[in-house]
Amino acid sequence: MQTHLRGRDMITTQEWTKDEIDTVMEVAMHLKLQRAMGVPHASLRDKALAMLFFFSSTRTRSSFEAGIAQLGGHGAFIDSDTTQISHGDTAKEIGEIYGRYYDGIAIRQCDWGIGNQYIREVAAASRVPVLNMQCDVYHPFQILADLMTIIEKKGDPRGKTIAVSYAYAKSYQKPLSVPQSLILLMTRYGMNVRLVHPPEFKLMPDIVQQAADNARYAGGSFEIMHDMDEGFKGADVVYPKSWGCWVTTEDQAESVEIGKKYTDWIADERRMSLAQRDAIYMHCLPADRNIEVTDGVIDGPQSVVYDEAENRLHVQKAVMALTMA
Ligand code: CP
Repeated sequence: MQTHLRGRDMITTQEWTKDEIDTVMEVAMHLKLQRAMGVPHASLRDKALAMLFFFSSTRTRSSFEAGIAQLGGHGAFIDSDTTQISHGDTAKEIGEIYGRYYDGIAIRQCDWGIGNQYIREVAAASRVPVLNMQCDVYHPFQILADLMTIIEKKGDPRGKTIAVSYAYAKSYQKPLSVPQSLILLMTRYGMNVRLVHPPEFKLMPDIVQQAADNARYAGGSFEIMHDMDEGFKGADVVYPKSWGCWVTTEDQAESVEIGKKYTDWIADERRMSLAQRDAIYMHCLPADRNIEVTDGVIDGPQSVVYDEAENRLHVQKAVMALTMA
């Protein structure tokens, strides 16, 4: 267990050692148990977290806000539209100024080619930890919650097979941050990671390379596949979700047309039957029901999506307690 995490940013899990991530898991399990037993755990009394959103959220906002309150602190929800950012406040000014008011700065900025850079510029200017609530490249807290859920449901992830698969959705061109963060973290835990997608829906090449390197180092495997059925076959964990074909085109209209070729990429009962009998179905939510996944699967006995959503609360509390104390 690592006990010197005060002041650390969480922008990607790649910048935390495995020992440090193990510590997050251990603290998250402890806080989850304390909450279940009604044991107060206000370790961040009088601390305040800025929660700056450039995009909407159901889970991330509420789990951070509830989490900091349960730790005895206060979360300030800040919609970027209500700030002076559009009138000139730079990332440096946000880091410098919020860093003097608050004890942590959490940011969601998902614009392609902008979000991660923005968060890093804030972090460079901030004297307090910066927490990435999702950018164009990473969604670290979602993936920490996913890891916690896999450990709870499947035990040691080592040697288990996970299919991180594209699924069709028509709602909007979603960021790459969830599949990218999944392949980065699950390879570090010795899983056999299958990245499954149509050719146009590839992920960022340097992220894919890092995942391959992680797998070599940790002793698992990393494979890219282009057939959703093959990806599901024998898998212990299936994580089919939509993402945009950002690496192929930034043109929204073109990406919509490309996506229409793959409307049969849906997580349905037939595909679930290809996975292990006790396989779990995961999704970060929101999902396009009956387009990306059938009601029967997402509401079925193999689905763990609500436990997964709950674990956002526990891992975020763990990271805040470790970094903002
Ligand atoms: N999974 C997730 O990040 O959900 P929200 O977009 O609702 O925060």
